[in-house]
This record gives sequence, C-alpha cells and structure tokens, in this order.
Amino acid sequence: MDPLRQLVYDALGTVEEPDLKKDLVTLGMVREVEAAPGAVRVVVMLTTPACPLKELIRSRCEDAIKAFFAQKGLEEPTITIDLTSEVTSGRSGGGPVLPGVRNIIAIASGKGGVGKSTVTANLAYALAASGARVGLIDADITGPSIPTMFGCEDEQPGMVTRDGRNLIVPVERYGVKLLSIGFLAPPEAAVMWRGPMMSSALKQFIQDTEWGELDYLLFDLPPGTSDIHLTLVSTVPLTGAIVVTTPQKVALADAQKAVSMFKQPQINVEVLGIVENMSWFTPAELPGSQYFIFGREGGRQLADHHNLPLLGQIPLVQSIREAGDDGLPAVAQRTESAKAFRGLAETVAREVAIRNAQALESASA
Ligand SMILES: Nc1ncnc2c1ncn2[C@@H]1O[C@H](COP(=O)(O)OP(=O)(O)OP(=O)(O)O)[C@@H](O)[C@H]1O
Ligand SMILES: [Mg+2]
Repeated sequence: MDPLRQLVYDALGTVEEPDLKKDLVTLGMVREVEAAPGAVRVVVMLTTPACPLKELIRSRCEDAIKAFFAQKGLEEPTITIDLTSEVTSGRSGGGPVLPGVRNIIAIASGKGGVGKSTVTANLAYALAASGARVGLIDADITGPSIPTMFGCEDEQPGMVTRDGRNLIVPVERYGVKLLSIGFLAPPEAAVMWRGPMMSSALKQFIQDTEWGELDYLLFDLPPGTSDIHLTLVSTVPLTGAIVVTTPQKVALADAQKAVSMFKQPQINVEVLGIVENMSWFTPAELPGSQYFIFGREGGRQLADHHNLPLLGQIPLVQSIREAGDDGLPAVAQRTESAKAFRGLAETVAREVAIRNAQALESASA
C-alpha cells in the first residue's frame, strides 16, 4: 500500500470506537482513505445514523492522523472526515430483518397506561430527527393512540401495486412512516379481534407495506403479556424489545412479566433495556423540583436485577401529555423533558448498534 495511506490506516488503527471498545480499522469502519502529502480524506462508517458520539469519533480521527504525520516529520495535512452510516442488523448473520428494514424493535409494558405509546412516539420522532429512517407500527387494539400523538387520526394509508402485489403505503408525519390498527378498524370493532386476526393484520403491516429502506421499525404493543402478545412477538422478526415501566411497585411487577415473556425460549427476543417513565413529577412553575409520586428508582432496580441497561428516565410533566394530545411529540420542544427523550433515543441507537456489532462478531467467529 502507498505509505501515506498506510500511515493513515495506522493512525486510525489507534482510534477506539467509544462504545465497542475496539479500533475503527479492526471494526471495519474505515471505508475509504485518500492520502496526498497535504490532504487526507477518510470515510468512516458509523454503526448508526443516530450515533451520539459522531463528533468525538471525528476529532479522535483528526488528532490521530495529525500525530502520526507529525511523528514522521510530515507537514500537517488538511483532514476531511466524512461520517456516513449503515445500520447493520444482528439477525441472520448480518442480513436485514426484512428486505430494507434493518431493525424491528418492540416497545412493551406489562401494565397499561405507563406511557408506552408516549415513549414510542417520542423515540420515533427523535430517531428520525437525528437522521435515521424510521417506521412505527401501532399494534394497540385496546386504544390506538399513535394517530392522535402524530395528529393524523383522519388520515388513511394509501395503496399501490408493485410487481403485481398490492402494498399499503404508510401515512408519513415528521419523517416517520406510520401504520396503526386504528387506521384499519374503529376501536370498538378492533377490540373484538382475536390473536390470529391481530397477527395476520400485523403480518400484513410488516410484509405487505411499502416501507422502503428503514433503519428502525418501532412496534408499539398493547399492554399485557397474554397469549395475544406471545403471538404478536413471535409473528415479527424482532431485533430486540424495550420494556417501559413507571417506578411503582405494581407496574414493576408487570414489567417483570414482560421481561420474562421475551426471555422465554420459544420467544427468545433480546431485551435492549428498560425505560422508566413518570420517574418524577416536575411542575412547570418549579422546574428545579422533583416529586417522586410513583416511587423512586424502581425502573433502575428492575434493570439492575436483570442486568439490563436503564435506557432513560422520563419525568412526569404536563407538557408531555399536552404534546401527545396536540399531535406533536414533546421531544420537538425546547424543554428539559425533550432532552430526556433525545437522550433516550441516543441510548437506544447505541444499544442497538452494540448488540448488532456483537451479534455480527459471534456470527463470524
Ligand atoms: N412522562 C409523561 N408525562 C406526562 N404525561 C404522560 C407521560 N407519559 C405518558 N403520559 C400520559 O399518560 C397517558 C398514558 O400514556 P400512554 O398512552 O403513552 O401509555 P400506554 O402505556 O401506551 O397506555 P396503553 O397501555 O393504554 O397503551 C397519556 O395521557 C399520556 O399523555
Ligand atoms: Mg399505548
């Protein structure tokens, strides 16, 4: 190899990916290197478009290249680091879960009303805002709330024919492609549905829908851990699951059941982590105060108990509820709670990337 390019590779071989704890060259993240005496250009493939550590990786690459050039007594080059992304999937030895869909993530809770749909809507919005391609399926027959939270109750998905197949075209809002059971049947009718009907509707949502390329397809489950849930989670090739709970004892007991459901041998879906919602109440007029209405740190304890990451703690704030009712997720606002949702999205993106990198590694071992 040309010695200058080699020098750049050597430099990048000392830069560690902060989450995966291995260097960029070993991880195969360095995709292109152009090196001339005064100018270096590198293309680094990130593990996720929502990578929270982009700028850190960029500056570490620049510093390493500068140091290696200086060590050889060479003039400092101008450095261009292009960061791109390709979301890899850990399933089937690295192939996508569905053609074009990289990761399918279920959001579950044992108990109802703990904020699954609120968390899912904000997560979808935040991931899309950070540059990822995101789809969201609302599978909650008991009360499909996603259309309300995205302000599109009155919209209907379209239909197209591609290569002789009829495909559903999702409704798109804020860069998120949406499908809801609520678009198909009025709630009074849908509640009567049984497991097999739900499961076939979902199969259609997943296989007969024009999703295009997606980095994340989120899947808002109905509350509970009944047979219908078992059918649902085994209908879909899930990358992983997120369990939402409040810190309260009764919610934790149900969240515990949800974790166990995913761990059952016939389901065997990895739980990416726990989200603690309504962690504390903060009144608008006392933004510095926290009242632990539903108890304290229960979600963290559940996560610790199962050796799972606590993906985020979301406060109970009136504006989160209002934003949901108004059809624009709270994460769009400039508030502390929006920051909590953005942090959650970063952590989820990171956990998915770590799990996928580990799965790829063990598949190639
Ligand atoms: N962090 C929060 N702060 C304020 N209100 C919240 C918060 N999280 C959820 N809510 C509100 O609580 C109610 C229940 O939330 P949500 O519908 O998201 O729960 P769910 O778990 O999806 O419920 P279900 O089990 O019925 O599907 C909604 O009115 C929502 O706006
Ligand atoms: Mg819900």
